[in-house]
Amino acid sequence: MDTLTLRRPDDWHVHLRDGAMLEFAADFTARQFARAIVMPNLSPPVTTVAAARAYRDRIRAAVRPHHGFTPLMTAYLTDDISPDEIAAGFEAGVFTACKLYPANATTNSAAGVTDVFKLAHVFERMQAIGMPLLIHGEVVSPDIDIFDREKVFLETTLGPVMKDFPELRIVLEHITTEDSVQFVEAGSENIAATITAHHLRIDRNAMFDGGMRPHAYCLPVAKRRLHREALRKAAVSGNPKFFLGTDTAPHQKHDKESSCGCAGIFSAPVAIESYAQTFEEMGALDRLEGFASEFGPRFYKLPLNEGMITLERTGHAVPDVMEDADIRIVPFHAGETLTWRLMD
Ligand code: DOR
Ligand code: ZN
Repeated sequence: MDTLTLRRPDDWHVHLRDGAMLEFAADFTARQFARAIVMPNLSPPVTTVAAARAYRDRIRAAVRPHHGFTPLMTAYLTDDISPDEIAAGFEAGVFTACKLYPANATTNSAAGVTDVFKLAHVFERMQAIGMPLLIHGEVVSPDIDIFDREKVFLETTLGPVMKDFPELRIVLEHITTEDSVQFVEAGSENIAATITAHHLRIDRNAMFDGGMRPHAYCLPVAKRRLHREALRKAAVSGNPKFFLGTDTAPHQKHDKESSCGCAGIFSAPVAIESYAQTFEEMGALDRLEGFASEFGPRFYKLPLNEGMITLERTGHAVPDVMEDADIRIVPFHAGETLTWRLMD
């Protein structure tokens, strides 16, 4: 098989940034995906309907119109966010979902939530109106080993929230552990999870491969190989609770190659190709379309895309660096040759 045609996919978790970085990065996502759930962790974060409308306009202006790309906006939950504001944004079709960052869990999360249980009134409202809650599922405590933060979050936070709000629709974002796979599998139909392209390929050794490798550093950090294998199995399982969300997160090369390097992997330029490579390695190319193009819209209660994309089997050399003006970024798979290439 030399070409692979599938329904146009969506990316249910992206960081498009703002300003010059948005101008640089957004088109890579728009070229591959019809829609994307856009993370609100700007500085300052997107906490109001007005800010989301303005950001959505900037995204629309940054992508070339022929892609027909639709950004789906999210509200950044803070300790004092007003349920009326997020409900108004949802009802107006501006907010698709809310994003929960535990305070200081990751990039631009300082304004995030300090005590998840104090947001009960917000979750209650979201549950009532059917607004999805997207979660960065890690506890933030210096006492908890960084490799255990996701697992501890399931036990101490997500489990209790789901018990209190059984009808709340929740996406556990960018899962990295076997524990999360099992948790989501065992949960009700109201819990689903996204899986990134990079967590399907790297394990934690990638960060220390012959030296410190800042371009393999993201949050949640990659875990042991056995967890990667569990993610791979979940992704190709055909279980509609697991769907595509790249968490593409561009940072400048110099900001990653620093004494305190930023977390994030810029996978947008090669996202669908990377997933295709993984699915092919798993002997499951026939399952890619469900994962990439069908299960996400089903969970979000949105129509499937009408268009199609085609990948061709051809050596696809990924550049070491991608740059324009003042931007220099090392993409995921830099310097590698991938099997598949998205045709224009
Ligand atoms: O690696 C990551 N980068 N994980 C996140 O949760 C945030 C993201 C970013 O915004 O850079
Ligand atoms: Zn993210």
